[in-house]
Amino acid sequence: MVTFLPAMWGLDAPLARGKPYIKCYSNFSASDWTHGAVVARLAQKSKGGHNGIMTTLDHHPARLRRSVLCVPADNSRALAKVRQLAADAVIFDLEDAVAPEHKGEAREALVRHLSKNRPDCEVVIRVNALGSGFGQMDLTAALAASPDAILLPKVESPADIQVAVDWLAENDAPESLRLWAMIETPRGLLNVAAIAETGRTFGGRLDCFVVGLNDLRKETRVPAHAGRTYLVPWLMQVLLTARSSGLDAIDAVFNDFRDADGFEAECRQGRDMGYDGKMLIHPAQIGPANEHFGVDQAAVDEARAIIAAFDLPENADKGVINLHGRMVERLHLDQALKLAAKADMIEKRKAKP
Ligand code: COA
Ligand code: MG
Repeated sequence: MVTFLPAMWGLDAPLARGKPYIKCYSNFSASDWTHGAVVARLAQKSKGGHNGIMTTLDHHPARLRRSVLCVPADNSRALAKVRQLAADAVIFDLEDAVAPEHKGEAREALVRHLSKNRPDCEVVIRVNALGSGFGQMDLTAALAASPDAILLPKVESPADIQVAVDWLAENDAPESLRLWAMIETPRGLLNVAAIAETGRTFGGRLDCFVVGLNDLRKETRVPAHAGRTYLVPWLMQVLLTARSSGLDAIDAVFNDFRDADGFEAECRQGRDMGYDGKMLIHPAQIGPANEHFGVDQAAVDEARAIIAAFDLPENADKGVINLHGRMVERLHLDQALKLAAKADMIEKRKAKP
């Protein structure tokens, strides 16, 4: 039965959404996983009048994810600080940051904390791996705490996403609940394209990749050097596959939280690689991350000029225009709209008391 799994990692894997992989093992043979059969099944499941299965990639909600702070769920002093901090997203961690003997108490503390002190930002809970013995209890606690997303650690195949999707469906999780996936093992990296594919459909919950370089360095034995020379190809691989499915991508943590210059250099590198933001471990890293993964005012002004130019009646049906001696196409308009929307989100966030 296990030999069937690789078939899911090919073209049909993303289309397998909606069919629990465990049930696949018992109910389906490899020959059932033809493109047509899976498309037909998903067509039955498609909602909201969408006739296609492979939908536009823009079904992912646009979120600001410049700074993604990790907080150990059993650290009451850190938990108490979160609401005063300006992180775009907070990952409440039940996994690596919590010792095995504290997992139960961390779960309870987190549910209690979020019921009274939910921060005004995207709320993410990182659970332990579903096969770890803690995973189910973590998922149950996470559902009780109503986060915006659940972060799955050490995702290595589409099946890891599918198990979580199935568990959430069986436990009546709201459709708005998203999944994030940590890519932090050699197998996860090798399968990252197939994992990303699970985020392509409307039914899919996968929304964001987070790169875990501490685990990846440990597993691959690539040493930690400034500049991350030999890790950059993998970082770009994750970025590319995330974009192929319209996912966001969050760069890895920088451990030396007292080294402000080193941190800023790595933020610049992450931004230049195309990442949306950085996973953080300390409040001191939030400000610089918000700045480096923010928007450049000159670029926003230019974006607004492009939007205004295409809004002119004489340009309404043009695919390409001359803007101050430069060719501007509708693809630039798309980029301009996204950048202006991001700038608006940042402004709104600043305006909050
Ligand atoms: N979130 C919220 N507050 C935090 C925080 C975090 N991630 N990290 C530190 N703080 C708070 C501390 O509680 C402290 O406040 P306090 O004096 O009121 O207790 C203040 O910020 C200054 O902290 P500092 O003394 O500089 O560091 P520390 O020794 O308390 O903590 C770490 C250092 C690394 C242990 C801590 O930052 C941490 O646990 N980070 C997250 C680690 C993690 O989640 N790892 C897993 C993912 S990689
Ligand atoms: Mg890890």
